[in-house]
Amino acid sequence: MAQAKRIGILTSGGDCAGLNAVIRAVVFRAVHSYGWEVIGIKRGTLGLMVSPPDAVPLTLDMFHGEVLRMGGTLIGTTNRGNPFDFALADGSRVDRSEEIYAGYRELGLDGLIVVGGDGSFQITRRLEQEGGLNVVCIPKTIDNDVPGTENAVGYITAVNVTTEALDRLQTTAASHSRIMILEVMGRDAGHIALASGVAGGADIILIPEIPFTIDSLARKIEDIDTEWARDFALVVAAEGCTAEDGRRFTIADTDGQARYGGIGHYLADRLSTATGWETRFTILGHVQRGGRPSTTDRVIGAAYGVHAVDLISRGDFSRVVVWQNRQVTDLPLEQVAGVSRNVEIDGPVMRTARGLGISFGDD
Ligand code: F6P
Repeated sequence: MAQAKRIGILTSGGDCAGLNAVIRAVVFRAVHSYGWEVIGIKRGTLGLMVSPPDAVPLTLDMFHGEVLRMGGTLIGTTNRGNPFDFALADGSRVDRSEEIYAGYRELGLDGLIVVGGDGSFQITRRLEQEGGLNVVCIPKTIDNDVPGTENAVGYITAVNVTTEALDRLQTTAASHSRIMILEVMGRDAGHIALASGVAGGADIILIPEIPFTIDSLARKIEDIDTEWARDFALVVAAEGCTAEDGRRFTIADTDGQARYGGIGHYLADRLSTATGWETRFTILGHVQRGGRPSTTDRVIGAAYGVHAVDLISRGDFSRVVVWQNRQVTDLPLEQVAGVSRNVEIDGPVMRTARGLGISFGDD
C-alpha cells in the first residue's frame, strides 16, 4: 500500500481544450487508485505566491458532470506567472520564487504536477533546481512545439477548429472568386497551419520555419488560374511568420511576451496588388483555444494524467510525460525545458503537403 500523499496540480501558460480531462485523470488516479489528496492550485504559479495559497482540494464528486467535456481549465491559468522575473504594477520586476517555495511548503505537497508548455517547463526546471520542488510535467499547447512528444494536449482540437474554418472559407471563396487568407496561431512553429492546411485544402501554407516571398505566392496564384483553371484560392498563415523585409507581425508586448497579429492583413494587401485578385483575411485567434476538447485531446489528456500520478507514486520526479509511437512514456525535464520543436522540414506532413502541390512561398 502506497504511503498517503498530498499532491498539487496547476495549469500554466495559455489555456487550451483538454486541460480538464488532464485534471480529472490526475484526481481519479490519485484519489481512487492511491487514496491520496489532490490540491488544485489556482491561476498557475500565482496561486502559490500568496499566503495562504490560493488552492482548493479536488475531489472525485467535482468531476461527476460536464467537466470532462468543458474547454478551459477548472483551476485557471496565467501566462504572466514567471516568479523569477515577475512584473509589478509599477513596471518594476522582482524575484518571487521564495514565495513559491513557501506556498509549496505551506500546502505540505509531496509532489506537483505542472501542466504547461515550453515557457512553464523552463520555470519549473528552475523551481526544482533552486527550490527543491518535486515536479512532474504534462505538455499542453495548441502550438504543439514541445519536443519529444507527438502531441501536446490542445493541439488536435485547435487543428480541428482551424480545419473547419478553412472548410467554411472555401465555400465563400468559391462563390466570390476570391483569395481567402486565414491567420492562425503558432508563434515559433507552424504545426497548426501545416496540418490544417493539408486537411482543409489550402493552396498556400506559410509557417515561421520557411521564409516566403510575395513573388513566389503570386506565381502560385497565377498557376491556380492557368494550370488548375480555378478562380479562388485558400491561404493559411501562422501568426509567427516573418515578412520578406524581416518584419515580424507583433501588435503588443505583454509582460515581456510578444503578441502576434497582422500577417493576414499584410498578405491580403500584397496579394491583391500582386495578382489583381480580390482578397479577404480572417484572424481566427483565441477561437482555436476554446470549446469542447476533441476525442484525441481527451484520451491523451487522460493518459498523461494517469501516467504523471504513477510517476509520483514511484518517486520518479523531474520527468515530462510524452506520447511517442502510440505509447505514453516520459523524458527528463532537463532534456525538454527550453527547447522548441519546429516543423520537420523533411517530415511526413511536409512531404505530403509538397506532394499535393501546396506552396510554401519558397520557390
Ligand atoms: O502559445 C500558445 C498561444 O496560443 C500562441 O499561439 C499565441 O501567440 C499565444 O498563445 C497567445 O497568448 P495570449 O492568450 O496571451 O494572447
